[in-house]
Amino acid sequence: MVERVGFRRFSQANGSKNMTARHIIIDTDPGIDDAVAILLALASTELEVDAVVAVAGNMPLAVTEANARAICELGGRSNIAVYAGCGRPITRPPITAEHFHGETGLGALVLPAPTMALRAEHGVDATIDLMRAAPAKSVTWCALGPLTNVAMAVIKAPDIVERVGELVLMGGASRALGNTTPAAEFNIHADPHAAQVVFESGLPITMIPLDVTHQVRSTPERIARVAALGGPVAAAVARLLEPSGAQPSALHDPCVIAYLLAPKLFQGSRVNVAIECESALTLGMTVVDWRGVSGRPVNAKVLRTVDAEGVYALLEERLSGSSIPR
Ligand code: RIB
Ligand code: CA
Repeated sequence: MVERVGFRRFSQANGSKNMTARHIIIDTDPGIDDAVAILLALASTELEVDAVVAVAGNMPLAVTEANARAICELGGRSNIAVYAGCGRPITRPPITAEHFHGETGLGALVLPAPTMALRAEHGVDATIDLMRAAPAKSVTWCALGPLTNVAMAVIKAPDIVERVGELVLMGGASRALGNTTPAAEFNIHADPHAAQVVFESGLPITMIPLDVTHQVRSTPERIARVAALGGPVAAAVARLLEPSGAQPSALHDPCVIAYLLAPKLFQGSRVNVAIECESALTLGMTVVDWRGVSGRPVNAKVLRTVDAEGVYALLEERLSGSSIPR
């Protein structure tokens, strides 16, 4: 049972100093791009990271939670509450992405094993308690991996749906094809039933699909700009951004944090999104009803354009001031 603490005491206990900042919970499966997203959030004083909750996804949970702690320590924030959430999808067999993220989950970046402790509470329980302790709609939920924890939280505590300020998730694809199957993006395909629960929950969703993140590419020139910033965090991010294949990698998860920091870099529309959970051929496909022809209710703001150079300029600006942890 998570000790119920008042929101203010919770924040102070968490070492939070900036009560005017936008409070966020990061649900994540680090993961190369998750790591960049977390470091971007930690380097941005507009944001207060109240908790990092690991989920199984790119890597098994034991790896994602350890990576989450190691990344928080790299960012100079060993005071941040890191929890382990769900270790497998709700229904389907687990899938992982070591082929892309490498055996450590952090690609070319080698970090020392974390020394900060993992919090004892289950990440789903901790999320529920934090949402209930915080002022209504004051916390933004950032989902960077499969939506298992998010789904389990709203199943266990439906009352939190009305308390969440916004759920900003990286996942899905519309006109872009899938990156895990021809029809489906990894985060949704990895737990389509969780995604269905989330998109039918009434949560205030902003969805950042591959259509957007594939526009934000870590070209050699951009990586060189990050590396030239100096300091351990920027150097680590430059390592993380190194291409794992022939073409520059897409900056998937950092787009979630960039959207919080500079929403004007993105454009989208409020539409219905439905999740394919039956077909083996298209399992995890996000069916985005741009024309409103399905009759299904609007349930998400889906982004579709981005100022990619603006995202990179933001990343560089934040990392340039982050070499000395706060
Ligand atoms: O499809 C990209 C998403 O899947 C990213 O969140 C990446 O980290 C993986 O989780
Ligand atoms: Ca991820």
